[in-house]
Amino acid sequence: MKASQDKIIIFDTTLRDGEQSPGASMDVHEKVLVAKQLEILGVDKIEAGFPVSSPGDFDAVQAVAGVVKRPTVIGLCRAREEDIRTAWDAVREAKNPGLHTFIATSDIHMKYKLRMTKDEVLGSVENAVGICRSLSESVEFSAEDATRSDWDFLVEVFSTAIASGANTINVPDTVGYTNPQEFSNLITYLKRHVRGIDDVTMSVHCHNDLGLATSNSVAAVLAGARQVECTVNGIGERAGNTSLEEIAMIFTVRKDLYKGLYTGIDTTQIFPTSRLVSHVTGIPVQPNKAVVGSNAFAHEAGIHQDGYLKEHSTYEIMTPETVGLGMSQLVLGKHSGKHALGERLESLGYHVNDKDLKKVFKRFKEIADKKKEIFDADIEAIVIEEIYRVPDKYELKHLNVTSGTVAVPTATVHLMVEGKLVRQAGFGNGPVDALFKTIISMTGFAAELRRFVVSSITGGTDAQGEVTVELMDKGMTAVGQGSDPDILVASAKALINAMNRIEFLRNKKSGELPNL
Ligand code: KIV
Ligand code: ZN
Repeated sequence: MKASQDKIIIFDTTLRDGEQSPGASMDVHEKVLVAKQLEILGVDKIEAGFPVSSPGDFDAVQAVAGVVKRPTVIGLCRAREEDIRTAWDAVREAKNPGLHTFIATSDIHMKYKLRMTKDEVLGSVENAVGICRSLSESVEFSAEDATRSDWDFLVEVFSTAIASGANTINVPDTVGYTNPQEFSNLITYLKRHVRGIDDVTMSVHCHNDLGLATSNSVAAVLAGARQVECTVNGIGERAGNTSLEEIAMIFTVRKDLYKGLYTGIDTTQIFPTSRLVSHVTGIPVQPNKAVVGSNAFAHEAGIHQDGYLKEHSTYEIMTPETVGLGMSQLVLGKHSGKHALGERLESLGYHVNDKDLKKVFKRFKEIADKKKEIFDADIEAIVIEEIYRVPDKYELKHLNVTSGTVAVPTATVHLMVEGKLVRQAGFGNGPVDALFKTIISMTGFAAELRRFVVSSITGGTDAQGEVTVELMDKGMTAVGQGSDPDILVASAKALINAMNRIEFLRNKKSGELPNL
């Protein structure tokens, strides 16, 4: 069915293209959590993964299909029968299942990657879309590297896809090459020449290599596209994808300019979703990131502060509350009860069951014993640690580190490795070095630490520390995060989180990984 004239369909690909961000990976449990939150956020479609890429991804897509109710759950597949049937098997039990098949159409991709002629590509489009449509009511076709493809060939490719049963036609700027003017002209050209285009939804999928993904997507919408493919926090392959929160806020804040165009996003769920995706993938949000960065609502210059205090709208085009931020900062203390914590979690967008609430409450009490005031960000960190970051192979049980001006820094660590307790002690140049060397030697990793960042979750010397590490082991990179009032404990948790992710990636990639 053709999309309503004014609604912009939000096709979220955080779980697929987003997961292709360097260092990011999500297991079944994490994908399910993000998918549930995406449904609450109000996205229309969730691309849950690329099922043929690994048994792990197949399971994750199938699990997402089993829990999501309203949005369409989509599996990505190359224009090959085996991919398509595998993707269908993964999504078929969803309430609203969908398939997304693609093949490259630029001369450079056809010549060097596919080694196929134009006629062969056209044949594949007809065949693949036909198989998809024999299985699914909802079929999207993408012409990979569309923006570097010959426009008249694209017209033939898309016309063939529509004739074969596609009901969404997607125009990807795969390598982030185009600009708003050129992309707008391309969309206009396709709308004018592709046969049957008025009966299908036209979609765009932009990458951010030149920082233009959002602008290009907006230009395409103004030229008639009615679906935007995007990711939370703009994560994705290389420089990432169009950022979902930017699209949602552009069409909210500038309603006056983009008359009648709207998305179904509940903007108050943007911030909790952003935090969740950042924690689950281990990819921090840059402080100056539009809409969700920690500085997005901070006013630093005196003249700005003065104007802002007199009248917020002098320097603020949207309120923090609109994106679900800062409704209340100071929340709970040592004497707060489980009920109050549960209510606070709900208002932050975290919907936890009783069992999980008990776990979060226990940890909350431990932290409240060390820290006078517990802020929203502390609560989020606890939820992430206790519920979302499920330890896989390695789990920290206990650590003790000594260091000082004369002492040799020494770490003693107790680690559960696949359910077995392992103990070890070691030395280093400093406390973190001693700790990391000890943990690494206990696990047999030959890991190189590429990034180590410590930040504080809130202000004050009793604040929880949040540590991010990037680890490389035998060519595999993963990002890990950990938080705790003790930064050495936070560091150990971050390292172990990165190791678990590497283990996960290793298992996931043990099969043949198809090229995108
Ligand atoms: O960037 C791209 O071309 C893609 C396709 C699979 C749509 O991610
Ligand atoms: Zn992409």
